[in-house]
Amino acid sequence: MSRLDRLYIGTNTKMFKTASEAGEHIARLNELTRDIDDSRMTLFVIPSYTSLAQAVKVRGRVKIGAQNMGWEERGQFTGEISPLMLSELGVDMVMVGHSERRHVLHETDEEEQKKVACALGHGFTVLLCVGETLRQKEHNISDEVLAIQLKIGLELVRPEQLDRVMVAYEPVWAIGTAGIPADENYADARHAGIKDTLCGMFGEPGRDVPVLYGGSVNRGNCEPLIRKSNIDGLFIGRSAWDADNFSEIIHTVLPLFENRR
Ligand code: PGA
Repeated sequence: MSRLDRLYIGTNTKMFKTASEAGEHIARLNELTRDIDDSRMTLFVIPSYTSLAQAVKVRGRVKIGAQNMGWEERGQFTGEISPLMLSELGVDMVMVGHSERRHVLHETDEEEQKKVACALGHGFTVLLCVGETLRQKEHNISDEVLAIQLKIGLELVRPEQLDRVMVAYEPVWAIGTAGIPADENYADARHAGIKDTLCGMFGEPGRDVPVLYGGSVNRGNCEPLIRKSNIDGLFIGRSAWDADNFSEIIHTVLPLFENRR
């Protein structure tokens, strides 16, 4: 059985929900997805740091991720959160390199690399986010940009750690309130390129790394996106923050995903 036999679907709640709101969201998601067997999908929520303790308490079937992580266990890094702190909370995943961290907070590929290696070394699953800017897309260098982000970001990943790596393709121009969702064919082609890069780096096991699409996914465009063979799952912002809306997306895409086989 391949890792890609199941759907990967999750949300990053950015700087939006308080701990009690995040707890309610996750509890409701558990309720609304009770009919879906665990073997069919990996469902995850990535809330803010201050919500993590509450989130793991009510997590049920939902995997809980941190939005960021420092790359040292301890030290003079005011404002950072270390892997030991996330381990103590029982967090399942760490997201690295979200577009807003790269472009608003100016994180570099070299920093993402250290975070990826550190998170894997501490036993977490890692979700590395990659994506090109509009300018890079217009220059026709999207695949090259994605390859650079993957080759640097995942350079220190050891073969035996690869089964804890996931990638989210999130074009910068497609994310958030000003975002324009990527056309499904464009997204599928970038996913194919990402998979080729992963194979080049890790050999055939690279094909088994789930690659999720993110950027203005909603109830209108989730269907064409999930019908695409290189899209292994969806990573959703705004449209997933209401649990009922998120559940409708899940219940729409899961059978379509399973019918692709
Ligand atoms: P969006 O966010 O779905 O609201 O565009 C996606 C993301 O930033 O992960």
